[in-house]
Amino acid sequence: MVMKGIILAGGSATRLYPLSKAISKQIMPVYDKPMIYYPLSALMMAGIREVLVISTPRDLPMFEELLGDGSRLGMRLEYKVQLVPNGLAQAFVLGKEFLNGEPGCLILGDNMFYGQHFSRMLKEAVEDVEQNGGACIFGYEVADPRAYGVVEFEESPQPSEVSHQLRVLSLEEKPEHPKSHYAVPGLYFYDAQVCDKAAALKPSARGEYEITDLNKSYLADGTLKVKLFSRGFAWLDTGNCDSLLEAGNFIATIQNRQGFYVSCIEEIAWRNGWISREQLAALGHEMKTAYGRYLERLSEKGN
Ligand code: DAU
Repeated sequence: MVMKGIILAGGSATRLYPLSKAISKQIMPVYDKPMIYYPLSALMMAGIREVLVISTPRDLPMFEELLGDGSRLGMRLEYKVQLVPNGLAQAFVLGKEFLNGEPGCLILGDNMFYGQHFSRMLKEAVEDVEQNGGACIFGYEVADPRAYGVVEFEESPQPSEVSHQLRVLSLEEKPEHPKSHYAVPGLYFYDAQVCDKAAALKPSARGEYEITDLNKSYLADGTLKVKLFSRGFAWLDTGNCDSLLEAGNFIATIQNRQGFYVSCIEEIAWRNGWISREQLAALGHEMKTAYGRYLERLSEKGN
C-alpha cells in the first residue's frame, strides 16, 4: 500500500470577489509563493510522491503550467477537471482511477498548516492508515467553529492528547449550534476503501457530497481516528481578504525572522532525497529572486 495525494483546488471563491473573479484563489500569492505550494508541501512532508490536482476547467491549465508533471520535484503529478463544485467527497469519485486501489490523502488547496512536529504527525498518519486501514483526520480548537466540520469527543481532550484514546461522539458539518470547539481541518487520510465509500454517499441538504459524511461512514465502522493539533500550531484560513493578508504576514514574519522558508517545495523535494543538490541549484538559478537565491544558498550549504 502506498498512500497517494489529492489536492482539491476548484470552487469559485466568491468570498474573495473581485480578487478571484478571473483567477483561481489557490494560485494567489500567500506572501512569496502561490497558495497551492502550502498544501502541496504538506503532502510532500508526509512522504507522498504521487499527487492529483483537481480544479475547474478554467483553472486547471494554470496549475499544470505552474507545476508541470512534477518531475522537477522528483514527483509525479496528474490533473483532473471537476466540472461542477458539488462537494469535497467528489475528490474520491474523480480520483478513483488515479488512486487505483491505493490509500489516499486529501488536502484542500486553500488550507495552510505550520508548526512543530507537523512532519512527524503527517508521517504517523500515513503509516497508521497504510498499516491498519481506516481513516485519520484532525481536530483543531477554534473560537467559532460554525463554519467548519465539527468533532465532538466523549471527554474534553487535553491540548496535546492523541484522540484515538478518546471516543468521538459525533461529527457535524457547519452546525448552527456546535457541540464542541474542535473544527476539522481540510486534511484527511483514508484507506483504499475510500472510493467505494465516496461513491455510496448521497448529497446533503445543501446539495453537496460532504466530506463530513465520508468521515461519518468511517466513524460508523469504528475505524476513524481523530488526532489533535496542539495549542500554538497554526492552521491558517485564506477564505477572505483579511485572512489572506494575515496568512501572508504570518509567513513573512517567520521567514524573515529565521531565514528558513515555509513550504518551499523545492527544498522539501531535496530534503526528501527526491532531487539532487545540483538539481536544487539549477531550480534556484532559474529564478532571479530572493526565492531563487534561497535555493542556491541551500544547495551550497548542503544541509
Ligand atoms: O477548511 C476546512 C473545512 O473545509 C472543513 O472543516 C469542512 O468540514 C469542509 O466542508 C470544508 O468547508 P468549507 O466551507 O471550507 O468548504 P468549501 O466549500 O469552501 O471548499 C473548500 C475548498 O475546496 C475551496 O477552496 C473550494 C474547494 N472546492 C470545494 C468544493 C465544494 C472544490 O475544489 N470543489 C468542490 O466541489
